[in-house]
Amino acid sequence: IVDIKGGPDEGLDRLGQTLVVKGWVRTLRVQSSVTFIEVNDGSCLSNMQCVMNSDAEGYDQVESGLILTGASIWVQGIIVTSQGSKQKVELKVEKLVMVGKSDPSFPIQKKRVSREFLRTKAHLRPRTNTFGAVARVRNALAYATHKFFQENGFVWISSPIITASDCEGAGEQFCVTTLIPSSQEATDSLVNTVPKTEDGLIDWSQDFFGKPAFLTVSGQLNAETYATALSDVYTFGPTFRAENSNTSRHLAEFWMIEPELAFADLNDDMACATAYLQYVVKYILENCKEDMDFFNTWIEKGITNRLSDVAEKNFVQLTYTDAIELLLGASKKFEFPVEWGCDLQSEHERYITEEAFGGCPVIIRDYPKEIKAFYMRQNDDGKTVAAMDMLVPRIGELIGGSQREERLEYLEDRLDDLKLNKESYWWYLDLRRYGSVPHAGFGLGFERLVQFATGIENIRDAIPFPRTAWLS
Ligand code: 4AD
Ligand code: MG
Repeated sequence: IVDIKGGPDEGLDRLGQTLVVKGWVRTLRVQSSVTFIEVNDGSCLSNMQCVMNSDAEGYDQVESGLILTGASIWVQGIIVTSQGSKQKVELKVEKLVMVGKSDPSFPIQKKRVSREFLRTKAHLRPRTNTFGAVARVRNALAYATHKFFQENGFVWISSPIITASDCEGAGEQFCVTTLIPSSQEATDSLVNTVPKTEDGLIDWSQDFFGKPAFLTVSGQLNAETYATALSDVYTFGPTFRAENSNTSRHLAEFWMIEPELAFADLNDDMACATAYLQYVVKYILENCKEDMDFFNTWIEKGITNRLSDVAEKNFVQLTYTDAIELLLGASKKFEFPVEWGCDLQSEHERYITEEAFGGCPVIIRDYPKEIKAFYMRQNDDGKTVAAMDMLVPRIGELIGGSQREERLEYLEDRLDDLKLNKESYWWYLDLRRYGSVPHAGFGLGFERLVQFATGIENIRDAIPFPRTAWLS
């Protein structure tokens, strides 16, 4: 359908041609002389209006009431000028074949259904306008991501999903355990081989072939090993956080894009994050017009203007210390108190980007070292690290990044300060032993980007199958 509707003149250039459409029935209107069937094949938001007279082959299917919303059909017809005002062309049906029946219990009838309800129908929600559009824009953002990095000479690296290290040091990891075999005998023998805690309970944290293993929270440390060999690299894959937070911006499983730049400092990192965001935003505005117009009308009024601004304007940059000053000036507004050294809450982040800077993305840099991860490069003041977060309206933190500590002694001291086990970071320290270079990178939560780009309020609607501790 996109080839017709998305073509020059919305299909008028294809008048008289024969077309086969394979898709799912959205609506059916039977009138005395003619039947209208709206079919969608997922290639675009638009349906193809199929107009069927009683002499068309397969009309008996309509007559016997078999064509219902949700059914899959195959229709062949001629492209003709539409009498309706909604579309320029329609399909005059010559032949219709029922491929898969539906029935009246199909839960997504024409009436508008809430997104909460649709979360309980994750297997059918892609058949709605909203979820179809989100899926296509998500796809375009993924494509534009690879395009941006590939055009700029970055090499894509697959980072492992199963890992022994906790990149963020926040202990929000899921443990990996071995699958228990189905027979009792096999289970007993397996359980006997698994390490036990002192009170005899199975120590699941030791259960990756006898070693502790986790689902990765970030591919950064792995990306650093490749950045210190291939120069600029990026990862793009699933990451996991065992955070039990029931918010509209947290998932237990989310996709992260993590570029890592060699011979680069925090300024290079911020420039890369800005150029990347502007590139992908521009890409969807130019290539997903129909879906973006839909979001602009039904999901977030004004989103296309907001994104055009993002694509064109410079982002605000300020230090953490200045951000705290700014927040102290408005502290009455906040539930959580503000003081130098505190972690910014989402109400603070949103105030900064939405109110203080009128909806412009804001990059905050140089955070206190106490609230940031061990690997960030210490600034000369001894108090702050070369970290940066990019905040955007509605979402707050979209990107978190930093310049990495490339000096062996500083990194060892930091691991000691935080009582982290230096032995387990031996390979990470090796990168500083052999040919260390200044390097920097960031992580962008892909579902938060989808939220930002579509206006979808809840992160559970920005990924096909959301995984959270909470159902809806
Ligand atoms: O700020 P974070 O924790 O940074 C890192 O993981 C670094 N290792 C990245 C790097 O420098 N390579 O996470 C990065 C981003 C956040 O800004 C946010 O967009 C997203 O990941 N994120 C989540 N998205 C959805 N659900 C969650 N639970 C998320 N936690 C983080
Ligand atoms: Mg962060």
